[in-house]
Amino acid sequence: MAGQWPVSAARRWGAPRRVEGSPGYPVTGLVTIEEIRAAAARLDGAIVTTPLVPFPGVEPRLLIKPECLQPVGSFKLRGAYSAISALPEQARQRGVVAHSSGNHAQAIAYAAALLGVPATVVVPDNAPEAKLGPTRRLGAQIVPCQPTLAARIAATEDLISRYGYTLIPPFDHRDVIAGQGTIGLEIAAQCPDVDLVAVPISGGGLISGIAAAIRATCPGARVIGVEPELAADARDSFRQRERVAWPASATQRTVADALRVEQIGALAFQHILSLVDDVVTVTEDEIRAAMRRTAAQAHLVAEPGGAVAIAACLSGRDLPPAQAPVAVLSGGNVDPAAFAAVLARGSDPPDPPMAERPQ
Ligand SMILES: Cc1ncc(COP(=O)(O)O)c(C=O)c1O
Repeated sequence: MAGQWPVSAARRWGAPRRVEGSPGYPVTGLVTIEEIRAAAARLDGAIVTTPLVPFPGVEPRLLIKPECLQPVGSFKLRGAYSAISALPEQARQRGVVAHSSGNHAQAIAYAAALLGVPATVVVPDNAPEAKLGPTRRLGAQIVPCQPTLAARIAATEDLISRYGYTLIPPFDHRDVIAGQGTIGLEIAAQCPDVDLVAVPISGGGLISGIAAAIRATCPGARVIGVEPELAADARDSFRQRERVAWPASATQRTVADALRVEQIGALAFQHILSLVDDVVTVTEDEIRAAMRRTAAQAHLVAEPGGAVAIAACLSGRDLPPAQAPVAVLSGGNVDPAAFAAVLARGSDPPDPPMAERPQ
């Protein structure tokens, strides 16, 4: 986090936002703190309660919520297990289907195996092997499709009509959002003075759940979404106050394969409009630099999509000042060769002035 803030930033941020939401965007229909607490009870024993760990060498302090430590390497297990465990017995017997760029697939496979439910996942045919291999090994059936949201949805609907599976969507679903919201509950319990939570955004389920939990438990804290600037549909949607879609050919350019969804979900959008303070972007170089620094300084593996919130906090650009910021490291599933190439890519640009001092 940068230590100095330009006057324009102070003017822009003003007083912290409260829970009421924006005029014209009623908060009714949003996932409630009770739903998130119920999800936390279902998840008990199935997921890792991740710690909050300091990012060594960064001043003022930055805390990381390392969801890469989940058994599937990402936060997605929370939403997947929350949704499957809430299904009635008959639906569990028929089985579940999901479409995903990789991490949700792996989480569905893992959660379904834990709960004894048959699982099928529709996966874009360019998804990294680091994400597909474990999904296969967990016993899920994999159905490849073109790498667009439309193709994923069409293939999934076909499977549902043929086999009666229950769809577990990757982000736009109450039980999924409630499961992801358990991260916010944990942050509030682990750091009650948290004043900023930076969260990666793709379809918007992660930030929706976290924002719902943080607003209810730490209403003065700001929740900021972070996207690659090459896939900034959520930033545009937030600014224009209507859902904007980017072409798949544009979002595919980012190294953050987990964040290439072309449009945030409708339910997620309601949460973002009502509960989120801003959506900011980071560059491809900042993402790679954050991956390197997270490995070298914090000894944690961040995949590109998992590193964007850390990247935003390390640059400090566009974020409001904060005393107790938390960055969600949302996943660590990166192909070893791709990770090695990022690590080997040489020295990073110097930090902003005052942002960091040697240990
Ligand atoms: C590692 C990682 N981070 C962040 C996200 C974004 O989550 P959401 O789609 O709920 O916004 C994803 C989604 O796949 C992901 O895999």
